[in-house]
Amino acid sequence: MKRDVISVLDMRDDIEQLIDLAAKLKRERGHHEKPLDGKTLAMIFEKSSTRTRVSFEVAMTELGGRGMYLSSNDMQIGRGETISDTAKVLSRFVHGIMYRAFRNDMMKELAASATVPVINGLDDLEHPCQILADLLTVKEAFQDLAGLKMVYLGDGNNVCNSLMLGTALTGMDMVACCPEERMPDPKVLEEAQAVASLRGCSITQDSDPLRACHGAHVLYTDVWVSMGDSMSLQEAQSLFSDYQINQRLLDVADGRCIVMHCLPAHRGEEISAEAMDGERSVVFDQAENRLHAQKAILWTLLR
Ligand code: CP
Ligand code: NVA
Repeated sequence: MKRDVISVLDMRDDIEQLIDLAAKLKRERGHHEKPLDGKTLAMIFEKSSTRTRVSFEVAMTELGGRGMYLSSNDMQIGRGETISDTAKVLSRFVHGIMYRAFRNDMMKELAASATVPVINGLDDLEHPCQILADLLTVKEAFQDLAGLKMVYLGDGNNVCNSLMLGTALTGMDMVACCPEERMPDPKVLEEAQAVASLRGCSITQDSDPLRACHGAHVLYTDVWVSMGDSMSLQEAQSLFSDYQINQRLLDVADGRCIVMHCLPAHRGEEISAEAMDGERSVVFDQAENRLHAQKAILWTLLR
């Protein structure tokens, strides 16, 4: 039976093992096994990417296989071929499919029709690979995840949704601190809260940044306007400016607090330049950890 990673919840039974495998592959970079010899990962992109594209491609190379970049604009999907037919055809050629999609229903349709593993490289609902890398990054900073408090600030988007699931699965407390109009997906929140109640942690929402950040170990943010979102910068500024990660919020957080951002960042919008480039920032470790986290996923799904 093939295994997909469409949601963070698809890692619910082995997320700790995946984080540990990623850490091991990071330590052993350059001299670990190459179990994907002769295997190809098709990587379909409907949206732009720097990190996801490069880290998946390098991950496949370093595991002995190959990543094949496919822009949806240049494929027949762009001219009306269904995603389901595309999935069936690609499954005859390649050993796995990574897909960056506008819509989560398209992601699910691709996964349902593919006979090879499908990995979500971001859609409008989730960004699971990012979150595995983020959890590895937090673990590197604090050793243990359980009991830490993370606050996500800004737009209740795909990254926020996946973070709620990832923190719940690893026993962290998380506050989604967003304006009332832009709280995360209610169904994902409910799922995260159900997981959290089993793990003995809490996932909550709050629209007051100073209150939410009190005693936090991690402050995390993302762009105000996601790809595919039609919100104007002016509208975003009026909604989100109080949620910027800056010294004012760091002052109420725990003394060891780290600053995270999935990138790309816009200094002066969701994060101050001082916080982004300051000594508490781990954003470039986070970016690097995409490589190691995705290697762990590819190792587990494609080997
Ligand atoms: N964080 C992230 O997924 O970056 P890219 O959009 O550059 O892939
Ligand atoms: N929320 C952002 C993440 C980019 C990596 C987006 O969807 O554009």
